Amino acid sequence: MKKLILAAASIAALALVGPAAAQSPIVIKFSHVVAPNTPKGQGAEKFKELAEKYTNGKVKVEVYPNSQLYKDKEEVEALQLGAVQMLAPSLAKFGPLGVKEFEVFDLPYILPDKAALGRVTKGPIGQSLLAKLEPKGIKGLAYWDNGFKIMTANKPLIHVADFQGQKMRIQSSKVLEAQFRALGAIPQVLAFSEVYQAMQTGVVDGNENTPSNCYTQKMHEVQKYMTISNHGYIGYAVIVNKKFWDGLPADVRTQLDKAMAEATDFANSISQKENDDAIVAMKKAGKTEFHDQTPAEKAEWMKALEPVTNEMASRVGKDLIAAFRKEANAKTN
Ligand code: LMR
Repeated sequence: MKKLILAAASIAALALVGPAAAQSPIVIKFSHVVAPNTPKGQGAEKFKELAEKYTNGKVKVEVYPNSQLYKDKEEVEALQLGAVQMLAPSLAKFGPLGVKEFEVFDLPYILPDKAALGRVTKGPIGQSLLAKLEPKGIKGLAYWDNGFKIMTANKPLIHVADFQGQKMRIQSSKVLEAQFRALGAIPQVLAFSEVYQAMQTGVVDGNENTPSNCYTQKMHEVQKYMTISNHGYIGYAVIVNKKFWDGLPADVRTQLDKAMAEATDFANSISQKENDDAIVAMKKAGKTEFHDQTPAEKAEWMKALEPVTNEMASRVGKDLIAAFRKEANAKTN
């Protein structure tokens, strides 16, 4: 795979020095792993629309959804090598790159609500996390929201004991691995594009994800039960190849910054509704039984998951967790 990515990267580099370089637009390949009709998919399309408009066509954005070009792990390598210029990986996927602090977002119940998310991502914590990407040749431009997660399986997941021995697909985050171990389940890292088939063939029993991701991947066709638990969060960092970005003409970069700011507002404004609508649609499909977690059940899960934060403190950073919690729970008036 690496060879293929390298080949794509050198073609991209050649294109820049070709004879038509002066006239041809600057191409931004924006690769992602979810469906077009998700918060991220629509955010990417909005960025394309605005970037092309504000640069008067000097920039062309090509959006590749659904892991069409690269799967989870490969897409980050492709970005670093310059085969693609822009991605928006889930915050749970930066560990393999060596920036494990992003896994703070994966800690169970760390975010009480979306207002807390805004405080963290727009404040110094969010910015300092993005800055950690720069030594990797990556620049973080924005945070895009998706939403809180539900749990899915072919058996009802109501009590902690129900997780015993269940093979649960996870994103590549050690925090998520610890979370499922704390519940007695068997976590298994799988690329997002492989989840549906893994469920269908019984390679995994279930997963946690946002309703919009479950719905657009048709998980409701292969999962009989879903628990609306909101026990954790999925969001994204929109990232670019730093060398590419820094090498853009200053006026173009300013126009792209404006496009990104507006696309970010747009993506964040539709995320909750996309997830709410996905639950309605999956209920309507009638193949899955939904369970709204009761406060007592939530308390049971919280108790079982409480040790995860301490266990992961040395990985994620004790001070970061404390600062994150403080900001997330700050009282605003
Ligand atoms: C997953 O891999 O489960 C998701 O986070 C994919 C995504 O980008 O939303």
